[in-house]
Amino acid sequence: GNGERSSLNSNEILNVAHRGASGHAPEHTLAAYELGEQMKGDFIEVDLQMTEDGVLIAMHDEKVDRTTDGSGFVKDMTLAEIKQLDAGSWFNEAYPDKAKPDYAGLTVPTLEEIIGEFGRGSRYYIETKAPDVYPGMQEELLRVLYNHKLIGSNEASSKVLVQSFSADSLLEIHELDPEVPLIQLISYSEPATITDQEISAIKEYALGIGTSYTSIDKEYVEKIRENELLIHPFLVNSKADMERLLEWGVTGMFTNFPDRLDEVLKSR
Ligand code: G3P
Ligand code: CA
Repeated sequence: GNGERSSLNSNEILNVAHRGASGHAPEHTLAAYELGEQMKGDFIEVDLQMTEDGVLIAMHDEKVDRTTDGSGFVKDMTLAEIKQLDAGSWFNEAYPDKAKPDYAGLTVPTLEEIIGEFGRGSRYYIETKAPDVYPGMQEELLRVLYNHKLIGSNEASSKVLVQSFSADSLLEIHELDPEVPLIQLISYSEPATITDQEISAIKEYALGIGTSYTSIDKEYVEKIRENELLIHPFLVNSKADMERLLEWGVTGMFTNFPDRLDEVLKSR
């Protein structure tokens, strides 16, 4: 059952700042998240990996190579080792037109630090990445969320959405706490279609789905909406695409440019 469905205002179109305002600042740094908030993102999107000593950190890749000056797998590094890394200079080098001296030397934040910084006044759209690699990832995520009173009895569960491409990860969370609002991510290589059976299965545990905007069409969005599931396409960065998806009836989207989506939403 999904008694928690009422916790998200069904008229709200969610502006999800993907990895923070990652079109403007180095992804998954406090600077990118802060910019996402300033640019009117409704949710801070956080991808999770877990360190060798069991700490959840914000990083998209299993390896630190692309977004830091280090190399190797997060699973083989302690938090102390992760904290030595520079998570901002790569961005200055890759995007000289957006570079800022302040970005150099930014560190990789832990989930606890992110929530500590932005608090319960912000909303978090958290993804369990590579759950097969990280035993205990789901329990640790729930521990952090309970600890900060972002989920649990009497809490506004709309402060947090948990997303994953792994149905197993979401099902585990659903078993641990059926009140946690979940979004099933789906990856399509062909133009997307979804059966009634697949929809029923997802509705058993999730409030909605997320998928690439490039694989879906109007019919797909309508089918999802007719079944009262949320649909949050990623990764939508142009205003023309944002407008088309809103016409189709999506209930939010992930973007590296929450400022653009905010302008589109305001002009409707
Ligand atoms: O979580 C939605 C979207 O972020 C999925 O793609 O690879 O950026 O995590 P990715
Ligand atoms: Ca993600």
